[in-house]
Amino acid sequence: MPSLPSPLLQEAIKNLAIHAVNQQFPADNNQVIGLGSGSTVAAIVREIAKLPNKRRLEFVVTSLQIKKEAENSGLKIVDENHIPYIDIVFDGADQIDSKFNMIKGGGGALLKEKIITSAAKRVVIVADSNKFVDVFTHPVPIEVHPFARSIVWIKLEEAGGTPKLRTIEKGYPFITENGNIILDTVFTSFVEVQKKETDLKNIPGVLEVGLFTRCADVYYKAKTDGSFETFQF
Ligand code: A5P
Repeated sequence: MPSLPSPLLQEAIKNLAIHAVNQQFPADNNQVIGLGSGSTVAAIVREIAKLPNKRRLEFVVTSLQIKKEAENSGLKIVDENHIPYIDIVFDGADQIDSKFNMIKGGGGALLKEKIITSAAKRVVIVADSNKFVDVFTHPVPIEVHPFARSIVWIKLEEAGGTPKLRTIEKGYPFITENGNIILDTVFTSFVEVQKKETDLKNIPGVLEVGLFTRCADVYYKAKTDGSFETFQF
């Protein structure tokens, strides 16, 4: 798993979060907002909390981590019935390749992140410059039903992958908030990322794949010198 960004980069992410929130929110709209998970989205939440119209916004959360951040910031959390009406999703990423495909799921929230991403009218990604690469090198998190662990493992190897069961301290398996396991799977080739996403998703027992090939509407890249770059689609 990637290490924490340096203090300077964390400062850049904070500044970028201020910019992203102010640029992406019209002042007077009622909106449904989807929140991905991770430290970058937490920085976004802390900035959303400062908006004067935050009481008019409703939030769909993808994990307990971001739910707690939203609760601490006094945001109104709503349930999954609001997913079809999500106006905008804010999320981070573990890696972003040169075609703006992403690997996500480092925090284990990929299943719900993929659901809200598929439904949202707009998707905004904020990530530090270390996450931007030419070709993926990060293992692909794959959420698997525990009953299918052995068979999915074999299928992943047949697909050219090297799976590893994600564990927490002391070696216990990491269990997702949906009661499943994660196989972090190394692939040495990423020729057709979208096909790989579909092929892996088709393995029975695989519940979600951490390859995200829906191009976001905006990618913000925080740089080590405190500046940032915007990629708009
Ligand atoms: C959560 O499962 C992930 O998809 C996160 O979006 C990803 O790990 C980025 O997290 P950070 O913003 O903490 O780097």
